[in-house]
Amino acid sequence: MTHEQLFGATPEGHWSAPGRVNLIGEHTDYNDGLALPMALPHTAKAAVSRRADRRLLLFSGWMPEAGPVDLDLDALAPGTVTGWAAYPAGVAWALREAGHDLGGLHISFESDVPVGAGLSSSAALEVVTALALSDLFDLGLAPAALARLARRAENDFAGVPSGILDQMASACCTAGHVLRLDTRDLGLRQIPFAMALEGLRLLVVDTRVRHAHADGAYAARRAECEAGATALGVPALRDIPIEGLAGALARLPDDTLRRRVRHVVTENDRVERVVALLDVGRAREIGPLLTAGHASLRDDFEVSCAELDLAVSASVAAGALGARMTGGGFGGSALVLVAEDTADATGTVRAAIEDAFAAAGHHPPRVFEAIPSSGAQRLPV
Ligand code: GLA
Repeated sequence: MTHEQLFGATPEGHWSAPGRVNLIGEHTDYNDGLALPMALPHTAKAAVSRRADRRLLLFSGWMPEAGPVDLDLDALAPGTVTGWAAYPAGVAWALREAGHDLGGLHISFESDVPVGAGLSSSAALEVVTALALSDLFDLGLAPAALARLARRAENDFAGVPSGILDQMASACCTAGHVLRLDTRDLGLRQIPFAMALEGLRLLVVDTRVRHAHADGAYAARRAECEAGATALGVPALRDIPIEGLAGALARLPDDTLRRRVRHVVTENDRVERVVALLDVGRAREIGPLLTAGHASLRDDFEVSCAELDLAVSASVAAGALGARMTGGGFGGSALVLVAEDTADATGTVRAAIEDAFAAAGHHPPRVFEAIPSSGAQRLPV
C-alpha cells in the first residue's frame, strides 16, 4: 500500500538509513573504546507527511496487515509502545525531551535490513526517523546528534541497553569506507576500503539464530566491564592501554573479570592495527586480526555460540583470509573476508559454510555480500 493510499496525503520527502556490519571493535562501545563499522546496502526507508493534529501514525511495510500504529505525540513515554514502533516513537519522544517542538505525522516505513540478525535493523529505523524529522522540522541536527537521539530512543524509550555503535554507523558511514569511531568523544575518521580494487569480498553470514539469553547476557557483560574499570580505578576500560594490560590483569581479583578486561583492551588494539594496515593499503593482511577478534569474543568475552563459531571455522578452513562474529553475539551474523584470487573463491567459502551448517544440523544460514555503503540520507524524489 502506498503512503497516499494509507493516509490520503502525499509524502513531503523520503529518507533512508542503513544497517551495519562492524569490521572489528566489538563490545568496545560501552567501554568508551574504538570500533570500525561500515554501512550495509540494506536500508530502512521512511516516507513522511505532516498532520494538522498531534497524532503520530506509523506504518510498517513488512507487516501491512497490522495497519498503522496510532499514537498521541503528547502521551509518548518510556515503556508505553512495544514492538518495532517503539524505535521511531522513541525518536519522536527523544526529540521532544531535547526541547524540539514536533507536530503530528504520518510515517510509512519499508526495510530490507534483516531483523534479529545483529545488523542493526532497529538503529536503521531510529536514524531514518531522526533524520526525516530533523529535516522536516528544520532542526538542522548533524549526523552525530541524530545518532545520540537515536541511542536515547533505544536505551531510554525502548529499554534496550546498547552502546552508540549502531546508531553512529547508520548515521555517519559513507560509501566505500569503514568508519573509525572513537566512542569516547564521537571522533570519526572515514577510511577508504576499496575491496573490489584489492580483490577482496566480504560475506555476511546470518546464522538466523538468536539465543534467548542474549539481552540478559549483554547487560551482564556491561556490568562486568564496569566492575573491571572500577576495580582498576579508571573511568572506562578504554583507559587501559595495551602496554598496561599485564599489570592491570595482575591487579584483578577474579578470572572472569580478567578475561572480560583482556578482551576489551586487546580488541581496541586490534582496531588500531586494522586501521594501520588499511591506512597503508594492506587490507589483505587484516584477516588474522579478524579471526583473533573472534577467538577473544568466544573465549574471553563469551558472547559467541556454536553457529557463529562454525561459520568462522568453516570459512577459514575453506581459505577465507579471516572471519569473526559481528554485533552483540549469541547468534546473529558473522563476517568473512575472502580474497578472490582463484576463480570463485567466494563461492567455495560460501559452499563450505552451507555444508558445515547442514552437517551440524543447523538451519541453513543466509549468506550475502556486503559492500561499504552510504549512511543516512534524504532520497531524491
Ligand atoms: C550491539 C549493540 C552495540 C554494541 C555491539 C557489540 O550491536 O547495540 O551498541 O555494543 O552489540 O559491539
